Formats: sequence, structure tokens, C-alpha cells
Amino acid sequence: MERANLDWANLGFGLVPTDFNVRYTWKDGVWSSPEVTRSTDLVIPMAATALHYGQALFEGMKALETVDGRVVVFRPTENGTRMARGARKLLMEPPPLELFVEGVTEAVRLNRRYVPPCESGAVLYIRPLLIGTGPRVGVGPADEYTFLVFVTPVGPYFTRGMRPIRVWLEEDVDRAAPNGVGDVKAAGNYAAGMRATAHAHEQGFDVVLHTDPRENKYIDECSAAIFFGIQSTGPDVKYITPQSTSILASVTNDSIMTVARDLGLTVEHRPVEITELATFQEAGCCGTATIVTPIGMVQWRERAFTFHEQGKVAGPWCRKLYDELVGIQTARIPDRHGWLHEVPR
Ligand SMILES: Cc1ncc(COP(=O)(O)O)c(C=O)c1O
Repeated sequence: MERANLDWANLGFGLVPTDFNVRYTWKDGVWSSPEVTRSTDLVIPMAATALHYGQALFEGMKALETVDGRVVVFRPTENGTRMARGARKLLMEPPPLELFVEGVTEAVRLNRRYVPPCESGAVLYIRPLLIGTGPRVGVGPADEYTFLVFVTPVGPYFTRGMRPIRVWLEEDVDRAAPNGVGDVKAAGNYAAGMRATAHAHEQGFDVVLHTDPRENKYIDECSAAIFFGIQSTGPDVKYITPQSTSILASVTNDSIMTVARDLGLTVEHRPVEITELATFQEAGCCGTATIVTPIGMVQWRERAFTFHEQGKVAGPWCRKLYDELVGIQTARIPDRHGWLHEVPR
């Protein structure tokens, strides 16, 4: 299949139309067979629970071309498991894991010509979506669900590449509640965080870092990425990343914790107090879209914490973790943990 004619090296993180999407519906207790369509529209009842009561969950994943020309999806079963957990929390029908992986694999296979060339640094972003489509006026779960998968080729989330970003520590706006749904990809979490991000952008910051919603004492996570700090005291180097009930269970962070251990770092996954920022030599954020992005500075009230030589260049551990993760994803480095799911032709 000939590759689509796109300017791969200059793609932004936007929506580029592709050829097909894949859909399933759950009705009368059973999931349908996959429906492949070219239509990007969705016809649903105006009383669908997704629209009124927030029964909506999504996932963000990626497919890449490896150096040896294969197309792979990174750890799809992790995303499928997270979506199922989210569905159970929102009383939605969870798509079975095999159905989830089938939908994702088919959506990539059918749009293979949009998988960017390996050397471009761009990827095919995969967006699975689960919504309550059954109509309801009283508050309660729908009796019908749609699970669909579309894909779009994307470039870097932060156009600064490995240049460190500027971060605003947000205490006033919470994206999630302590015992809420912040640990899963509920659509409403993102609406809740939008005004904090808009405010941070107005002040000249790239991204928001939320504090914990219970005490505002600990670091939670960024608006669409996980925070980490690197602490090196002599030969002992630590990868420290927050644990909290309101943080998304990130597939990338889980992978980086594994990679960090492989590289000989000590991993601490625990509550991280804001004041600990002063003890990190490097800081960064990670996620499917952001990969590993160095943080140059965090502004907390009147106080600025800076990392990476006054925030100007990425530190060595951020680079090493980036290289190791992307190396595995593109098969430059052996897939020693079995993370790559190959898409058949
Ligand atoms: C709020 C939030 N936190 C963290 C992440 C990172 O999660 P993952 O590594 O699974 O992409 C994301 C998505 O990328 C996110 O939206």
C-alpha cells in the first residue's frame, strides 16, 4: 500500500482525516460485529447518556513504523484493561479485551498508509472511544453503548521537542476528585481541566501541573501527562513519580518505570510533596503523546523551581529515558518486555 502524501516531518498534534474507522455497538446484552465505515459522523439519540451524564471514556495510544518496516501498536492490552476499568467505574459496558485489541488493530491495518515513516518522528495516534448511546432522562446508565476507534497521524505534542517546557503548578482548579474518576480516562476530567490550561497559557506557561485535590500538598499530574523528578545523590539515581488516587494510571509511566529499573535507577512511586521539587536535578513529564518531555521550570506561587541548567537544555536522564523508550517502540532496541503488538498486513 502506497504511503499517503503528507508532510510527515511537519505534522502537528491535530486531526488529519484518514480512510476508515471501526465501530461496535452493545445492545440487548451483546456486542455487534465490527462495522467499518468511511463516515466520520455519529448519529445518536439527543438523550444519549454520554451527552447528559458523562458516560464517555476514551483512550490514547499509538502505532509506529519500526526500523525494520513493521507496524506495531504499543501495549494495547494495557489501554484495553484501563478502558474496561473506567467502564466499570462509570457503570458502562466494558468492551472485552479481545474486541478492544481487534478494533484497534483493524483501525490501524485499514489506515496503514497513514502510518508515518519511522525516521519522521511522527506516529499514528489511535483514539478508541466508548460512549453511552442509549437515551435516558433520569440519571442512570444507558442500555446501549458504542465503542469506536479512529486514527490520525500526529507530530510532536510539544513543538519544543527536547527543549524543556515551562510548567504552572495549579492549586485552585482540580481536574479530578480524590475518590472520583481521575485514574481513568473519563471525558469529563478533561473538560474540568481546560480552564486551568487556558489560564496557564495566558500566563506564558506550556502546561499545568495539578496538586492533589484533597490537601494541595502533593504533586498530582499534568493536564495530559505524568510528572517525574530525577534525584541523584552520588552514584544513586532515583526516578520519583507521584502516586495518588486522582492520577491517570499511565501506560507510558509504567513503561518508563520498568526501563528506569533496567537502566539501574531506583524507582519511587509514592506521594511527592511540592517542596520536594527543590531536591530534583531533572524533571519531566511523560505520556503517549508527550513521550518524555523535560520540564525546565515549575512556577509555584511566587517561587520558581528550575531544572536542567536553568531550564535551557534537557538533562542526561530525560534524554536517556526518551532514547530507551523510543528505541524499544521503534525496535532499534530489542523488545525485551514484549510490548510491541504487530499489525498484520
Ligand atoms: C491526564 C493524563 N495523564 C497522563 C497521561 C499519560 O498516560 P499514558 O501514558 O497512558 O498515555 C495522559 C494521556 O496521555 C493523560 O491524559
